[in-house]
Amino acid sequence: MSSTAAPTLFTWEFATDPYPAYAWLREHAPVHRATLPSGVDAWLVTRYEDARQALADPRLSKNPVHHAEPAHARGKTGIPGERNADLMTHLLNIDPPDHTRLRRLVSKAFTPRRVALFAPRVQELTDQLIDGFAGKGEADLIHDFAFPLPIYAICDLLGVPREDQDDFRDWAGMMIRHGGGPRGGVARSVKKMRGYLAELIHRKRENPGEDLISGLIRASDHGEHLTENEAAAMAFILLFAGFETTINLIGNGMYALLRNPDQKALLQQALERGDSRLLETAVEELLRYDGPVELATWRYATRPLRIGGQDIGQGEPVLVVLAAADRDPDRFADPDRLDLGRRDNQHLGYGHGIHYCLGAPLARLEAQTALATLLTRLLDIRLAQDPADSRWRGGLIMRGLRTLPVCFTPPP
Ligand code: HEM
Repeated sequence: MSSTAAPTLFTWEFATDPYPAYAWLREHAPVHRATLPSGVDAWLVTRYEDARQALADPRLSKNPVHHAEPAHARGKTGIPGERNADLMTHLLNIDPPDHTRLRRLVSKAFTPRRVALFAPRVQELTDQLIDGFAGKGEADLIHDFAFPLPIYAICDLLGVPREDQDDFRDWAGMMIRHGGGPRGGVARSVKKMRGYLAELIHRKRENPGEDLISGLIRASDHGEHLTENEAAAMAFILLFAGFETTINLIGNGMYALLRNPDQKALLQQALERGDSRLLETAVEELLRYDGPVELATWRYATRPLRIGGQDIGQGEPVLVVLAAADRDPDRFADPDRLDLGRRDNQHLGYGHGIHYCLGAPLARLEAQTALATLLTRLLDIRLAQDPADSRWRGGLIMRGLRTLPVCFTPPP
C-alpha cells in the first residue's frame, strides 16, 4: 500500500482484511476523519494509547443527544433496535449518573463467581451442539455451533423458557444476517423481540424466578429506580451485546487457529496435559488478534477536545478502532503474529473504562469451553475450504465470518 495515499475504507477488500489499512492510519493519520457507509462523518482513533485514553475520557459522551446532528445519527449506529426509542436507554447509550445506577443493578449477575456457576450448563450446551454434527465429519462452525451457543446461553441467563428459545434464535439470526443491510426484516425481528420481552417481563412479575429478568424486576419494585422500559432495554442490550460478539469470538478465534496449525497444535498439547493456562492466554490473544468488536460503539465530544494532537469539535462523533489499537506495534511486540502464550496482553477487545464489557466473564467462559471442547473432541479439525472470500459479514461495529466450513475425522 502506498505510504502517501489514504486507504479506501469500508470496501469489500477492507472487510476481508482491514489490518493493512489500519496500519496506514496508525502511522499517517492516527485520528482520521472518515465518512462512514451511512453517510455520517466520524473521527477514527487507531493508536493504542489514544484509544485507551479516549475510551475512558468523560468528555466523550455515549448519549446520542450530544451528536451535533442527533436526528441524522439515529438509527445509523449499527446496533439493531436503535430506531426503537424505548430500547435506547441502555448501558451503551448513557452516561453517569444513570449509567452508574443501571450498571450496578446488573453487575452482580456477571461477576466471575456468579458466571462460574453457569459453567456446567455451557459445557452441556457445547457438547450437545457438537454431538449434532460430530458423526458427519464436517460442519459449518458458524451455523452449527458458534451461532446457537451464545443465544441459548444468554436466554437461559435471562430466564427465557427453553420452549421459546428457538424463536430468539430466529430473530437473532435475522438481525445478524441482515445487520447493516435490508432494514425491514431487522426492524420486524427487533419488534417481535421487543414485544416478547415486554410480555416476559409481565409474566416474570407475576411469577418470578432466579433469573436475571426477575432480578431486574425485583430491583425496580424495590425502589431502585429502574423503569419497565429500562428493564426491557437492559434485557435487549444483554442479548444484543452478548450474542454476535460471542459468535464472532468463537468464529474468528477458530479461524485464526485453523490458519495457524502450529499454534493450534500447541494448544491441543496443553489441553491433553490438562494444563488450562494456555487456554486462558489463548482466548485473550485471539481477542487481540482478530476480536469481534472492530470499533467500539459511538462516542460524542461534549466540548472541544484534542486526541492524539487532533482537534475534535463539540458534537463530533468519535469511533475508537479497537482492532487497530490492538495491533499497534508501539504497544504489542510483533503485533501481526498470533502468539497464544503472549504475556503483557492488555488488549482493548473488551473496551476500557466505565463501559468495559460487562459480559467479559461470560464471554471468556463460553469461548474457553467452546475452543477446548472442539479441539479435544475433533482432534484433526481443519478448514474444509478457506472462507476468507466474501465470507466476512460487513457491519460497522462487528467483525465476523458468515460461514466457517470445517472437516475432521468423526470421533469413535
Ligand atoms: C460492552 C466487547 C461479550 C455485555 C462491551 C464493550 C466491548 C465489548 C468492546 C465496550 C463498548 C464501548 O465502550 O463502546 C465484547 C466482546 C465479547 C462480549 C469482545 C465477546 C466475546 C459480551 C457478553 C455480554 C456482554 C456475553 C452479556 C451477556 C456487554 C454490555 C456492555 C458491553 C452490557 C455495555 C457495558 C456498559 O456500557 O457499561 N463489550 N463483549 N458482552 N458488553 Fe460486551
